[in-house]
Amino acid sequence: MKDRLLARINDRTARVGVIGLGYVGLPLAVELGKAGFHVVGYDVSARVVEGLMAGRSHIQDVPTEEVAALVRAGRFEATTDDSRLAELDAISIAVPTPLGKTRDPDMSYVLSARDTILRNAHPGLLIVLESTTYPGTTRELFLPSFEKLGFTVGIDVFLAFSPERVDPGNTVFLTKNTPKVVGGITPACTELATAFYQSSIDTIVTVSSPEAAELTKLLENTFRAVNIGMVNEMAIVCDKLGVDVHEVIDAAATKPFGFMKFTPGPGIGGHCIPLDPHYLAWKMRTLNYKTRFIDLASEINSQMPSFVMEKVTLALNEDRKPVNGSRALVLGVAYKKDINDVRESPSLDIIRLLGLHGAEVAFHDPHVSMVREDGHELRGVELTDEALESADVVVIVTDHSAVDYQRVLDHAALVVDTRNATKHCVRTKARVVTLSSSAAGREVMAQQAY
Ligand SMILES: NC(=O)c1ccc[n+]([C@@H]2O[C@H](COP(=O)([O-])OP(=O)(O)OC[C@H]3O[C@@H](n4cnc5c(N)ncnc54)[C@H](O)[C@@H]3O)[C@@H](O)[C@H]2O)c1
Repeated sequence: MKDRLLARINDRTARVGVIGLGYVGLPLAVELGKAGFHVVGYDVSARVVEGLMAGRSHIQDVPTEEVAALVRAGRFEATTDDSRLAELDAISIAVPTPLGKTRDPDMSYVLSARDTILRNAHPGLLIVLESTTYPGTTRELFLPSFEKLGFTVGIDVFLAFSPERVDPGNTVFLTKNTPKVVGGITPACTELATAFYQSSIDTIVTVSSPEAAELTKLLENTFRAVNIGMVNEMAIVCDKLGVDVHEVIDAAATKPFGFMKFTPGPGIGGHCIPLDPHYLAWKMRTLNYKTRFIDLASEINSQMPSFVMEKVTLALNEDRKPVNGSRALVLGVAYKKDINDVRESPSLDIIRLLGLHGAEVAFHDPHVSMVREDGHELRGVELTDEALESADVVVIVTDHSAVDYQRVLDHAALVVDTRNATKHCVRTKARVVTLSSSAAGREVMAQQAY
């Protein structure tokens, strides 16, 4: 079985598929298509499938022309028909892994994808889970179900985990040139999964087990969550001391070794950093171990929107204005610059907090025209001189490159800049408040000098 599948992968006659055609699955499907495979993309969303079959990409990093060319060439087709999986020799799973209300893993999408494969499984099939998850998932949730059907993993079917590392908006590192980690249940599983990805990804890094691959992804994202948490705390520290956190970070970053630059901000967002470390924390709770770094980072990062709200309140107070009844213009609702993803975005929390305190809130985002929160729809506004002039406070939450920040400072009266986006702008009309520019902090330092 193994040699036959290996040969079919190597000569590109293997029929391959991707389950879940979102931020992760679509770029992978396109790379596999470009590598010469015939790719079937299976998704439960008819809207996603119809769009793709019409040659349209719904993912910002995947050019529409690439999807259209593959569809025209008959190399890629999207479907909602799960029976099409029966034709496939290799399947990657890239479905969501969110958290439930109690911040426990919600494995329902992964289990549903697994069951869809089980209904269509046949000898000679390679299955690779890519969704970010807790260590042990592949062995605990996949291996027994295939064995129950009579397959021997490593002989009849092949099972591996390979974490996706896609970084939306990153124009340098894309699916093809980001090294991919692969860990199979058996050496044969690893060998086949490696050959499969080698077709379309430049560098493959093998590890000894699915658990090592699962944990690699969680280490990467926990590393980011903890360092962002640490630097966010440093912003609060600097605020209390009246020191500019960005000046300190930029100076520290001149050290050519032993320091890696992270920047503070309004909080963390997206489908990875706020969620993934909790998969590890949950798993470790089942083993009676408390992952303290994860808990602390999460606590600090999730409090940043409240810290921003405090900055806005104090800044308006200096202008003798209450938040209640003030007009707030939020710049940016995407969770990071130059993308249109609003999942878990701290901007949504800030908009909600401003609204709760009675502010009239509007937002502008060059990449997002509308957001939905708690069943309410909020439509974005144009960034005009009038919109800037009529706002009591402009809150920069996402530092999109397409926004002219000099214009913001030329027309707004008060700007709370949570990203240091106005760093290079000439201070003209607006009073600018950053995360660490509290007047109280400067006062404390001045008093302590006597
Ligand atoms: N977005 C990122 O930046 C990123 C980066 C690295 C890893 N990941 C991980 O990759 C996984 C997928 O994330 P994403 O951002 O691509 O999600 P997404 O929401 O963009 O896409 C998921 C797709 O799966 C489809 N889907 C859901 N259940 C399905 C099912 N049972 N069968 C078929 N299709 C189904 C949805 O309709 C959707 O189109 C997650 O585990 C995530 O943590 C995401």
